[in-house]
Amino acid sequence: MSQYSDYVPPIDLLRNRVILVTGAGQGLGRAAAIAYAKHGATVILHGRTVKKLERVYDEIDALGAAQPVIYPLDLEKAQEGDYNQFVQAIADQLGRLDGILHNAAFLYGPSPMEYQTLKQWQSLLQVNLMAPFALTKACLPLLKAAPDAGIIMTSSTQGHHPAAYWGGFSVAKAGIEALVKIQSDEWSALPALRINALIPGVVNTPQRAATHPGEAKENLRQPDDLMPVYLFLMGMDSKQVRGQVIYC
Ligand SMILES: NC(=O)c1ccc[n+]([C@@H]2O[C@H](COP(=O)([O-])OP(=O)(O)OC[C@H]3O[C@@H](n4cnc5c(N)ncnc54)[C@H](OP(=O)(O)O)[C@@H]3O)[C@@H](O)[C@H]2O)c1
Repeated sequence: MSQYSDYVPPIDLLRNRVILVTGAGQGLGRAAAIAYAKHGATVILHGRTVKKLERVYDEIDALGAAQPVIYPLDLEKAQEGDYNQFVQAIADQLGRLDGILHNAAFLYGPSPMEYQTLKQWQSLLQVNLMAPFALTKACLPLLKAAPDAGIIMTSSTQGHHPAAYWGGFSVAKAGIEALVKIQSDEWSALPALRINALIPGVVNTPQRAATHPGEAKENLRQPDDLMPVYLFLMGMDSKQVRGQVIYC
């Protein structure tokens, strides 16, 4: 459990803020998008499958929260120009960006490294490491213009403590933690811009079900259980928290 698990966010924590959530169509991304919208944010719902994003859009709309925006982009295929187009669309449509939750992730079932292919590693590194880097970089002009911008990267236990059979996924997530340290160091003179990583731990999501089939789900934490930490790190109350890797 994190030291921020008991955080009680004010209901207007993210009022007038524009927050981008990647992989918002299911699991933790969906829960975070809804939590941010409930706390006042206009949320940009990024993902791969439009139908899933539309369902989350409808859930947020039904809450009477600020109208979200859907932006599909396959992070495995995206090139620099696609990221620039994405950011231009945010600037044109919403005029600002106050935070990013890099949540989208992709993995293959665990296997010994000798059976993992170069193509698999390319996909794993592309979606889980290079895309968060490229998207953050493209968004920087908007983030630097924000009064208080929070960036959250998502790591995993396998990234923090690389272990057998997690191969390219572990390496990508370990890379994310290194990226956070480097970027935070570079932003030490920019108090309005902060970046942290969080490690969800075991949570009942479609990804967990895919990697651990047959596991009893009733004892697992649900995505909503983690939202105090996700809200804390995105809002002003975490202004002094910088370059940290936080376990949920
Ligand atoms: N659940 C856990 O126990 C656990 C534990 C440790 C860390 N985490 C981390 O927490 C984050 C969320 O996990 P989760 O369990 O909620 O995952 P999830 O249910 O698998 O959701 C992942 C999301 O990423 C999107 N995505 C995957 N590949 C993509 C691509 N090429 N382009 C764009 N979007 C893509 C998916 O979109 P589509 O549905 O459209 O494919 C999906 O919405 C991940 O970073 C994960 O590594 C989770």
